[in-house]
Amino acid sequence: MTVLWEPDTHSLDSLRMALGQTLRVVDSGPTAMRAVTEDRTQDLLVVGPDIDLTAALGACETLRLERPEVGVVLMRRRLDVAVLGEALRAGVREVVAADDLGALSDACRRSQELSRRLGGATGPAQDARVITVFSAKGGCGKTTVSSNIAADLAQTGARVLLVDLDLAFGDVAISLGLGPERTMADLVSMAGHIDQEGLASVVTSHQNGLDVLCAPAHPGDADRISGALVSETLRAARRFYDVVVIDTPPAFTEHVLASFDVSDLSLVLATLDIPSVKNLRLALDTLDLLGHPQESRLVVLNRADAKTGLTIDDVSTAIHHEVDAQIPDSKDVTAATNRGVPIVLHQPRHPVSVALRAIARQRVLPGAGGPAKSAKRPTEPRVEKQKSSLFRRRTVDARSEA
Ligand SMILES: Nc1ncnc2c1ncn2[C@@H]1O[C@H](COP(=O)(O)OP(=O)(O)O)[C@@H](O)[C@H]1O
Ligand SMILES: [Mg+2]
Repeated sequence: MTVLWEPDTHSLDSLRMALGQTLRVVDSGPTAMRAVTEDRTQDLLVVGPDIDLTAALGACETLRLERPEVGVVLMRRRLDVAVLGEALRAGVREVVAADDLGALSDACRRSQELSRRLGGATGPAQDARVITVFSAKGGCGKTTVSSNIAADLAQTGARVLLVDLDLAFGDVAISLGLGPERTMADLVSMAGHIDQEGLASVVTSHQNGLDVLCAPAHPGDADRISGALVSETLRAARRFYDVVVIDTPPAFTEHVLASFDVSDLSLVLATLDIPSVKNLRLALDTLDLLGHPQESRLVVLNRADAKTGLTIDDVSTAIHHEVDAQIPDSKDVTAATNRGVPIVLHQPRHPVSVALRAIARQRVLPGAGGPAKSAKRPTEPRVEKQKSSLFRRRTVDARSEA
């Protein structure tokens, strides 16, 4: 089926003749992208002749990563070599003159035939489950929960990528005992063309098979990473993994918004203290305002049995929402973090590990934990040795900077 990106409705009748009656007409780039990415029966995007070329090619580049089986046919009032060259580089399948409806019809037929051969529009969706772990207050356990869930799912044989979007102060690497050589900052030079190989070259592999995209080593590098780069990275990652788990900073940064945009599920965390519950309420309200669907959210109470004078009922009353999952409090969690080993790997029977595993296997990737998948990650990424402690890692960093 075909999506036509064309705000001018005057020429629609003649275009329907060329493109068929089951045409979905949209008037903006974001709507066109949503129409094509959310409805997997769509296999063709036709871009009207007056749509800004940069916007059209940007959409085409995103689609090339996200749904390469979808063809893009570009209409232009004037065909010139410069436009053809740019279109080709962006992955446009054909460029046709706006007044040549016969050529348009032929180009669309060829593109749809190619899409059919690629099996895209009819094949099942291959995309990863994308999970954002968020809380509006620091210290609630985002990094703990995201690294443990990712580590647990990697053990089941799923291809898992953990992304540290706390770009200024990310501590995923240190929690997992990794000393990454490359980080998100290395993606900046690949903007616009992040592919499987590029992504594999910047991830660091944990010994249990988990891939980690680490935050930059220097807080200043965060400024060089745009929301668009994060979007592009996550959309690319979604194609090459079974699960993408995203750790976040405690704020609605442009990076976090990009992450919510592509997520299938968000775990919104809080602990049993008034500031945390207040911020949880604010976070849920903000997600409502952003149009983030309620059904793709889980409220997770971390350290849920801590004796703080607040109860779980107090929390649900304050936030007007059920607490969907709970993780107990234990000093063993911090001890595991300090060792750089996720507690689910170090003490799999620990009550905290049991709770985290239930979230991972029942909520994040339902059915995980069955027979291990035979598929291996797409290319062999850089393998880092485990560093046993913060102090040792510092020594390594200092040496590498010297
Ligand atoms: N369930 C838990 N029980 C005890 N300590 C925990 C638990 N979850 C997290 N912690 C500890 O709380 C601190 C903050 O956790 P962290 O995951 O870094 O939070 P965030 O990423 O939200 O800032 C860490 O020292 C961590 O070990
Ligand atoms: Mg954190």
